[in-house]
Amino acid sequence: MEINKVSLKNYSSLHIGGEGDMLVIATMKELTRACMFAQREQRKIVILGGGTNTYFGTVLENILVLKIEIKGISLEEREDLTFITAHAGEVWDDLVQFCETKNLWGIENLSYIPGTVGAAPVQNIGAYGVELKDTLVTLSALDTKTMNSVEISNHACEFGYRDSLFKRERGRYIIISITLKLSKSSSPALSYKPLNTLLKDENLTPEVIRNLVITTRKAKLPDWKEYPNAGSFFKNAVVSDAEAEGLRIKYPDMPLVPHLKGFKIPTAWLIEHIVHMKGVRVGDIGTWPNQPLVLINYGDATAKELNSFARNIIDLVKNETGITLEKEVNFVE
Ligand code: EPU
Repeated sequence: MEINKVSLKNYSSLHIGGEGDMLVIATMKELTRACMFAQREQRKIVILGGGTNTYFGTVLENILVLKIEIKGISLEEREDLTFITAHAGEVWDDLVQFCETKNLWGIENLSYIPGTVGAAPVQNIGAYGVELKDTLVTLSALDTKTMNSVEISNHACEFGYRDSLFKRERGRYIIISITLKLSKSSSPALSYKPLNTLLKDENLTPEVIRNLVITTRKAKLPDWKEYPNAGSFFKNAVVSDAEAEGLRIKYPDMPLVPHLKGFKIPTAWLIEHIVHMKGVRVGDIGTWPNQPLVLINYGDATAKELNSFARNIIDLVKNETGITLEKEVNFVE
């Protein structure tokens, strides 16, 4: 087994992290061997896909990063449905494009989200009114507690807003492949801006939607290769009915979007209008001027700098509104 000491910042789209041990995993056999090695050496296993939702601390002594590159996509047709099984190391957006070329409906709204297939269920990726959970039927994973391969159904994944079993039991399950149920007949999800502009379009295809999502994302979100970032750094805030009532009185302009048993508040709005941190930069860390939910590493920032910048935003929002912001991005230390 060839363990490489690497500079982990080169494997984080935020470009933050010190040196650590890493193994690239391309087969199931390599994966089980690596897990057994880590258990023997009492190392904490850290699973990495594309590194687009992760940043690392400076000193990382007892960890073993497994970069999952298990590949493969297969297809099974059943009447009007197509079941797609994709392995964890596939690039998520390559899968979306593959489905689009086959005219399959279901994940076109999730176009251009960075990262790998294996990372997608962990935070139940979502955009423009669609979440991964809407099409995921089942996934297979290695349970590192028992070292058995297990099938986990959609229900058992305990999906929530940017949340799943895999976040709560971090390190236990290593996702190997996911199976999605896609439709051959037209089923566009157009409730979100700007996709609602396509409502009257009679010749809609997944490609049309994909193209609009890509244009929208490109306009709003910075390319991490140019401006290192990990997409939304925080989750949007979720509050109860009672909390929303108080907030509505104090801030009549606050957007409150019905969500499950309460309301969702765009954290970008809180950052811009309540704590006035949109486009603000401290040292090498700042909020993106077009979408302050995204934090940028403008130079050579450390995890400490990023954490203290984020902490400041969390504290300011808490003091003003009573809302506790949650991070969306994974910090490994
Ligand atoms: N807003 C502001 N100021 C800004 C930008 C936005 O006040 O500068 C407010 C506006 O009220 C706007 C609202 O925020 O209507 C929502 O903004 P946007 O549509 O850009 O979406 P978001 O809620 O900020 C979420 C996801 C994104 C996803 C978009 C589109 C989270 C944490 N983020 O962002 O996901 O692409 O919706 O559906 O749920 C990601 O997770 O990394 C990500 C980029």
